[in-house]
Amino acid sequence: MPVSEFDFAEKYAYLNGFGVYHESSALKDALPTGHNSPQRPPYGLYAEKLSGTAFTAPRHENQQSWLYRILPAAAHRAWEQVPLEDYDSDSLSGSNVQQLPNQLRWNPFDFDESVDWVRGLHLVAEAGDPAMKSGLAVYVFAAGKDMAKTEAFYSADGDMLIVPQHGVLDITTEFGGILLRANEIAVIPRGVRYRVDLPRGAVRGYICELYQGHFQLPELGPIGSNGLANVRDFQVATASYRKDFGEWKITSKFNRRLFRMAQSHTPFDVVAWHGSYYPYKYDLGRFNTIGSISFDHPDPSIFTVLTGPSSSPGTAIADFVIFPPRWLVQEATFRPPWYHRNTMSEFMGLISGDYDAKSSGAGGFRPAGASLHNIMSAHGPDASSYRKATEAHLEPQKVGSRSMAFMFESCLMVGVTDWGLKHCEKVQQDYNEESWEPLVSHFDESLINET
Ligand SMILES: [Fe+2]
Repeated sequence: MPVSEFDFAEKYAYLNGFGVYHESSALKDALPTGHNSPQRPPYGLYAEKLSGTAFTAPRHENQQSWLYRILPAAAHRAWEQVPLEDYDSDSLSGSNVQQLPNQLRWNPFDFDESVDWVRGLHLVAEAGDPAMKSGLAVYVFAAGKDMAKTEAFYSADGDMLIVPQHGVLDITTEFGGILLRANEIAVIPRGVRYRVDLPRGAVRGYICELYQGHFQLPELGPIGSNGLANVRDFQVATASYRKDFGEWKITSKFNRRLFRMAQSHTPFDVVAWHGSYYPYKYDLGRFNTIGSISFDHPDPSIFTVLTGPSSSPGTAIADFVIFPPRWLVQEATFRPPWYHRNTMSEFMGLISGDYDAKSSGAGGFRPAGASLHNIMSAHGPDASSYRKATEAHLEPQKVGSRSMAFMFESCLMVGVTDWGLKHCEKVQQDYNEESWEPLVSHFDESLINET
């Protein structure tokens, strides 16, 4: 079900379309005609280019935008590192990450109403290095306060794919506003400045930060020219500017440390822009779910919304995969996910409802919780799910109603931070024992004549 049908009213206008060239202007004729950088841009604006790829990236990968703004971003005082004691640096630094073969599952992460967006970011898992533009990071966020009215933030480390689990995020960006609700996602590209207000109070959710490249739609292959996440359903911010010249503070996440500077003008002064590098959002309720209508459980890649590719074809640094409400109709099939060991790592979260592939144990897999099955760590249905699935009378069945689980899947071995392993105090100690130790053998050689 699209989020617009049951949640907080929309307040912004958007452009529709993913991966295409857009333009937006808040004032008539603010976009120069023909030129990108005319001698005197309209209205006395400055022209500024924001490059999301190297100048020389191939055309089909090249992402950049031209911004026409009241003052350029360069007009500011010096950056200074924010003292580590001013924020929970362990939450961002990724120091002491541990790569573990254990299957991990977390109880729901707590709300924290005492902090704003920037201080509410907690790095749970990571692989790679933002300084080398390689890998990805996984955060949970929990915040209850608006950012200060004259404060903005950006990450130089990567593109942030934000998955709210609870609450409403009113995100003001240089390109315009995005209202983000549970069951929607947004991507804020590297370097784009934004601030977050919380019109409905506390928020909580997950983030995948892609240190290398950018998210794109998966190839559709034999599916054809439509299906999964359709291009037109992505919504892009539209230009909206302010013109205040008071003191502003900008915070940058720069190689996992926070830096701050002051400037005498708002960063949200972009009157018009055009380009292919911009923030956008997508309503997961619009996903066109496709699956098997004959037999066997398809690979979950059939549910990929966005993919952040590696240099190896078909292999992702980060796939964003969802498990929406859907019908299961396969005949003579073990319908839950099969038992599995994967060369990819699988970090899962739950936005709402019950994930159909996991029955709840003592801790269970609950909304705002998570699990991590790292590279080659065995997983699959627990003992009771196995029994139910093998004994079930198979008929068409709707699963996942009002539920939305998701997965960040990566080709990289993911390390878990101290915060994720200890400080959040959410790791379930009995996940493995409870889920798979109770599995029993059904092997019986005398059954050979029955098959
Ligand atoms: Fe798996």
